[in-house]
Amino acid sequence: VPALEQEAENATIGQGVVESNHAGFSGTGFVNYDNVVGSYVEYTITADQAGEHELTFRYANGTTVDRPVSVTVDGAAAQTVSFPSTGVWTTWQTRTAKVVLKAGANKIRATATTANGGPNADKISA
Ligand code: GCU
Ligand code: CA
Repeated sequence: VPALEQEAENATIGQGVVESNHAGFSGTGFVNYDNVVGSYVEYTITADQAGEHELTFRYANGTTVDRPVSVTVDGAAAQTVSFPSTGVWTTWQTRTAKVVLKAGANKIRATATTANGGPNADKISA
């Protein structure tokens, strides 16, 4: 069964916590990445068709500083995606990245690359 969307709070979290104190998220909350290099959210996207897909990440960044993350698919094909300021933590925006997925389940890991950690993460869709 295709599952082209996943809430961050239902994903696998490495160094981060599910919170709900900043309004505007979808689902039941969002992931607050620990503010360290290497914290991550790993989503599972189950594609019906192999090939290039555009991933959309919904996020908030209430600071003035970009929070870039490294995005991998099944541990490979890393690319850096920028998550610039959204102004305040209750303003949620999206950023996209093109990736190649296989038919079936794909693990999309979004790993913080700076000591600020990642942005607050709401969900991913493909
Ligand atoms: C604040 C905010 C958190 C956010 C954190 C950060 O503490 O309430 O939601 O994750 O800043 O800077 O990462
Ligand atoms: Ca954080």
